[in-house]
Amino acid sequence: MIKKAITAVIGLLIIQFIVKFLLKLELFKHVYNHTPGPCRIVPGEGIGYEDMETLPNGLTLITSGLVMPGASSTVSEHRKKHNGKGRIYLFDFNQPDKGIEELKIVGDQFNHSDFGPHGISLWKDKDKVTVMVVNHGSAVDTIEKFLFIAKDKQLKHLHTYRDPTIHMVNDVAMDSENSFYFTNYAYYKSGLFHVLEAVIPLAYGNLMYYDGKAYHKQDEGLFTLNGLVLSHDQKYLYTGETIPQKFHTFTRQKNGTLSRYQEFNVKTAIDNPTLDKDGNVLFGTHPIIWQVMGHTDNPETPAPSQVIKLHMKDGAVTKMTEVFADDGHTLYGSSVASLYNDAMLVGTVLHKLMYCEVRWID
Ligand SMILES: *[C@@H]1O[C@H](CO)[C@@H](O)[C@H](O)[C@H]1NC(C)=O
Ligand SMILES: *[C@@H]1O[C@H](CO)[C@@H](O)[C@H](O)[C@H]1NC(C)=O
Repeated sequence: MIKKAITAVIGLLIIQFIVKFLLKLELFKHVYNHTPGPCRIVPGEGIGYEDMETLPNGLTLITSGLVMPGASSTVSEHRKKHNGKGRIYLFDFNQPDKGIEELKIVGDQFNHSDFGPHGISLWKDKDKVTVMVVNHGSAVDTIEKFLFIAKDKQLKHLHTYRDPTIHMVNDVAMDSENSFYFTNYAYYKSGLFHVLEAVIPLAYGNLMYYDGKAYHKQDEGLFTLNGLVLSHDQKYLYTGETIPQKFHTFTRQKNGTLSRYQEFNVKTAIDNPTLDKDGNVLFGTHPIIWQVMGHTDNPETPAPSQVIKLHMKDGAVTKMTEVFADDGHTLYGSSVASLYNDAMLVGTVLHKLMYCEVRWID
């Protein structure tokens, strides 16, 4: 009798686990198409423009050539086939027809053939723009620091940050020229434990702060912690967990210390955030998880795209609207979007870059 009851309970738990897992994959979800105005693809290699940030003058820096640690060999082969390598591109919202231009990286300490750029952050102090980029190097992850010299279309390499806490980094957000936050997406980069970490899930992701001298853990127990950005006034930090589909607000003290403030269920797999001029948060998102999983395994497999806007007041979400959606016929796997005046740029993990005129936005 007891044996039967235990068997039944275990059976139910397994069924519950499988059903939850299948629901999580969003097997039955459909994505409709809509844009905020006319959109077009920006010419380029089309192998990913994973993260971007726009300066107040409309110049936008974009990372390209991401190969996630533990990615399938198909991804590396695809990158090779399309003349892919780690690059930082420049796009000017004032001259959208010029398209993108590769920035030349200069500096003896920088190894061009070991550059796998992921998240990016810009820090502007008067006319000086400092840039930080997450790099998945062949040996370890690093955070690379550059000086952006706009007139020469150059990035001058300044420093490489290396530390055991810079482990499997997704994104970086500077709060001064020499200090920054970063997210560790997961702990295991590949193999059985990588799968277990995702399926159980083990939540070994964390949020770190480097104050210019030392690395401090700000939060942990997070799973697939992705892009992050600071509010314009630096009172809040916004980030999200992709698979749990949760948006997080942290409050930020003047000395950099963070505390959890709000958690908001966005019901879509969020990737990288940017801010609009009013301080609202724009996210590139993946509306159907099982399709983006297939896409990140083989970049030629389509996956839908979506841009959402979180309307913010005092660090809390007041409303969520969808700015853009594509069922995967035009743009695969959107990871970021940036708004400037009446235009928007949408980047992807492993696919193309899209430019949209914004005629209407809520
Ligand atoms: C640059 O990176 C490549 C690829 O990982 C490596 O083979 C090469 O030895 C590196 N060069 C230097 C100077 O470190
Ligand atoms: C930062 O400031 C807060 C209070 O404003 C304090 O509780 C905390 O200990 C400080 N943290 C560090 C690392 O100095």
